[in-house]
Amino acid sequence: MAKMEVKTSLLDNMIGVGDMVLLEPLNEETVINNLKKRFDHSEIYTYIGSVVISVNPYRSLPIYSPEKVEDYRNRNFYELSPHIFALSDEAYRSLRDQDKDQCILITGESGAGKTEASKLVMSYVAAVCGKGAEVNQVKEQLLQSNPVLEAFGNAKTVRNDNSSRFGKYMDIEFDFKGDPLGGVISNYLLEKSRVVKQPRGERNFHVFYQLLSGGSEELLNKLKLERDFSRYNYLSLDSAKVNGVDDAANFRTVRNAMQIVGFMDHEAESVLEVVAAVLKLGNIEFKPESRVNGLDESKIKDKNELKEICELTGIDQSVLERAFSFRTVEAKQEKVSTTLNVAQAYYARDALAKNLYSRLFSWLVNRINESIKAQTKVRKKVMGVLDIYGFEIFENADNSFEQFIINYCNEKLQQIFIELTVKEEQEEYIREGIEWTHIEYFNNAIICDLIENNTNGILAMLDEECLRPGTVTDETFLEKLNQVCATHQHFESRMSKCSRFLNDTSLPHSCFRIQHYAGKVLYQVEGFVDKNNDLLYRDLSQAMWKASHALIKSLFPEGNPAKINLKRPPTAGSQFKASVATLMKNLQTKNPNYIRCIKPNDKKAAHIFNEGLVCHQIRYLGLLENVRVRRAGYAFRQAYEPCLERYKMLCKQTWPHWKGPARAGVEVLFNELEIPVEEYSFGRSKIFIRNPRTLFKLEDLRKQRLEDLATLIQKIYRGWKCRTHFLLMRKSQIVIAAWYRRYAQQKRYQQIKSSALVIQSYIRGWKARKILQELKHQKRCQEAATTIAAYWHGTQVRREYRKFFRANAGKKIYEFTLQRIMQKYFLEMKNKVPSLSPIDKNWPSRPYLFLDSTHKELKRIFHLWRCKKYRDQFTDQQKLIYEEKLEASELFKDKKALYPSSVGQPFQGPYLEINKNPKYKKLKDAIEEKIIIAEVVNKINRANGKSTNRIFLLTNNNLLLADQKSGQIKSEVPLVDVTKVSMSSQNDGFFAIHLKEGSEAASKGDFLFSSDHLIEMATKLYRTTLSQTKQKLNIEISDEFLVQFRQDKVCVKFIQGNQKNGSVPTCKRKNNRLLEVAVP
Ligand SMILES: Nc1ncnc2c1ncn2[C@@H]1O[C@H](COP(=O)(O)OP(=O)(O)O)[C@@H](O)[C@H]1O
Ligand SMILES: [Mg+2]
Repeated sequence: MAKMEVKTSLLDNMIGVGDMVLLEPLNEETVINNLKKRFDHSEIYTYIGSVVISVNPYRSLPIYSPEKVEDYRNRNFYELSPHIFALSDEAYRSLRDQDKDQCILITGESGAGKTEASKLVMSYVAAVCGKGAEVNQVKEQLLQSNPVLEAFGNAKTVRNDNSSRFGKYMDIEFDFKGDPLGGVISNYLLEKSRVVKQPRGERNFHVFYQLLSGGSEELLNKLKLERDFSRYNYLSLDSAKVNGVDDAANFRTVRNAMQIVGFMDHEAESVLEVVAAVLKLGNIEFKPESRVNGLDESKIKDKNELKEICELTGIDQSVLERAFSFRTVEAKQEKVSTTLNVAQAYYARDALAKNLYSRLFSWLVNRINESIKAQTKVRKKVMGVLDIYGFEIFENADNSFEQFIINYCNEKLQQIFIELTVKEEQEEYIREGIEWTHIEYFNNAIICDLIENNTNGILAMLDEECLRPGTVTDETFLEKLNQVCATHQHFESRMSKCSRFLNDTSLPHSCFRIQHYAGKVLYQVEGFVDKNNDLLYRDLSQAMWKASHALIKSLFPEGNPAKINLKRPPTAGSQFKASVATLMKNLQTKNPNYIRCIKPNDKKAAHIFNEGLVCHQIRYLGLLENVRVRRAGYAFRQAYEPCLERYKMLCKQTWPHWKGPARAGVEVLFNELEIPVEEYSFGRSKIFIRNPRTLFKLEDLRKQRLEDLATLIQKIYRGWKCRTHFLLMRKSQIVIAAWYRRYAQQKRYQQIKSSALVIQSYIRGWKARKILQELKHQKRCQEAATTIAAYWHGTQVRREYRKFFRANAGKKIYEFTLQRIMQKYFLEMKNKVPSLSPIDKNWPSRPYLFLDSTHKELKRIFHLWRCKKYRDQFTDQQKLIYEEKLEASELFKDKKALYPSSVGQPFQGPYLEINKNPKYKKLKDAIEEKIIIAEVVNKINRANGKSTNRIFLLTNNNLLLADQKSGQIKSEVPLVDVTKVSMSSQNDGFFAIHLKEGSEAASKGDFLFSSDHLIEMATKLYRTTLSQTKQKLNIEISDEFLVQFRQDKVCVKFIQGNQKNGSVPTCKRKNNRLLEVAVP
């Protein structure tokens, strides 16, 4: 949301009056009271028209923030409460937009805040003017020139801890866009006497203290300085430390600022060397020495300091020493040398220190100017800022030449102030077409004339006196003044012939008094001549010129013997007069803006407003006069638009909107309000109000009217609020009622609807049932008729067609169909036959029930065929093995539980490879026949059921048992003697071999064995027996059989289950007749 533009005015929320033009009644008291009231409310700025009066708050106020800058930026002067920013903005804008060069004149006595004000103006302008890297650098250099100049040109005084001891005028140059390009600084009359002597409670220039506190050890060593202030005669010690000022930190700031401004390192160093030299000069002391010719002569007490100075500056020590002892006066071609006494030597020393320092200061200003000067030659717009010492009046006739000069300068400034203000006023009246009424005011031109008149002005008299041959003293000068100026209205002197002051005891004899526009000032004439002469003995300047230190050399060009100029240099007074004249000329071409600073107390304290002190300043600043000039004709003026805007609510025709031109609106307004015609005048763009009273009346009316309007607005707003609330309620009520009605109706309708549906459904049901009954009856009738008709037609048709069929047609059709089906079956089978693997169980399902047997047969045939195919692949050996396996299957399949586990085992026969084992060589040799089986078996001991290992050998004709270890044959049974083999039907490897009764082998009884290859052994035994004896061996499979033991018959019984020791069958002899085998 765009911020609403609020039209404000200086007149809003005023404390006292923001513009003193509006004071009523106007006198000194009301002016002071107004300033005091505003000061007490932290309003330190007050206007007199466009002049800003600033009362030093002596504390930091939160009114210079960047937000404030924004507030005042591009606002009209009278729109916001008085502020230095408003003036700065006005000046900057008219410079930028109207192409008018500006000057900002800041006046006020020492400590009134001039320097601060000038810095505020500069920082405001820096903040609002263009931005960019280059512009910022220029700004930075301009702003940083301040700390450098302040370090060298400011000092703590009784009135101000940071008092500027020089006058400064700075031109800031801008391009057509309002971007800063550079600047030029002019300095006026540095108070150089401070270098050698400071009044009580004051200090020397800051830089000395800053150097000693902030310089590094290394730097101080290089400069041959010691950190202790008390080592230096030129430094006042009682106030060497200033509260709240950190000299060391400031030293760093200054060094930094020098760098920013563009001082080279060696330049900065040279500057500090000169500072050190000045400081050390103060330590040179002299002692008297009488000479033979009776003349006093001085001698340097301790040459060490002199030596160090000479080392520092590169001056030949003897040259400098001589310059402190002799003075050479040259007239025409003659050179006369006189010795200096101690006092003169001290005078020379101090003169040198002062000159060195003040020339250094001027050099600094020039050096800064070189850095900050605009780099382009384009036309520049200029804003000058003048920060010059204000009127200075010391009590007790302590005013000297410096005060005289300063006050002269202020006198000049006052003059152009009056001139320009009156001129501006006049111009505005002409611009606005208002009749100009002459304004009575005091013109101080007469005082300026008293001082600066070329023939008989005070300065001219002084110069004349200084140049006059013969003895010249301050007294002769005063005498001269008494002669020439006695009749002047503003000159007062005890000695003048004018008898007015003959008995004025407040006027000492050695003084004269000038009635400045700001008050009377008593000047002590002592020192005038000397200070005006400002002489440095030529020997000293020549000594300086001989220095190898480049900077010092350049500071004393007149010391060059090649350029000896016998003419005297211009006096301080005439120099100053000339520079003031230049300044005035410069200022007159510019549009002036005034800031008049007032000091509220002498204690540098916040919140104290010393009315006496302020009254004094108001008087000498001529503020009352200023106000009078400003409102001589009309106290207040305002452009028509804002005026109408502000007061339009006071009249029906103009409220709330005035359609015509603003001027006509204001006319109507003022007529309506019955303001007397002589109270105002219509200018071209502004209304001029003669008396502040009228304005205040308007303001009062406005205030009252605003209250009424506020009530009206409130009333209307409240009515509107109630009405809208009521309307809203009503609307809501209707909506709610409508919704409710709708809901109720809906509910009722639904009820009716559902009842109707129930009734309807009953009726429909009843009707439907009736129809259904009827339809059912009809359908049954129809069906009965159809059935009857069908049967009837059937008989009819059959009866008719019987004659067309032959007796056996059915059979033929049947056979044909059958054939077709078979054909199809076989053809399909061809594609469906399973794989040739004999163990493949797949066989397609049969398609027709009647083909069941065929299908099965076909399956069998196919299987046999593929088995044959399979067998055909076998070699003879394989065939033999399978034959054997087949034999085993015939013998044991489904009879012995052990059989299935034997199917997978290949029958190997000779498991024991007797041939290869040397252990059995004897056994092998004993057997000549082919060995069919060679295997280790368990032979069961028939007596106790325990078993022993035996080698079981089967040959074509015999069965042999041999010892496993020795291979010795234990028994040999011819196959013909084997009658039967018995075994259980279970999963065990026990078997008995029955022998023929009466045979030789049978004498010990039948054998009882257990073997893992029972099936194989039994099969092989059977086959061998069959092939050798052509008899089938009897194999008995039974769980109980009898075995012959010598004479006894023992029953071997197999018991299943109750087995303790795992899966191995165990044998146990139970009694004489029973041997029990436990099978797992
Ligand atoms: N606007 C201000 N706000 C706060 N303090 C100020 C202001 N103006 C001046 N002062 C205080 O007054 C002192 C003296 O001001 P200065 O400008 O040096 O006086 P002048 O230059 O007139 O001798 C400053 O050091 C500062 O402490
Ligand atoms: Mg100052």
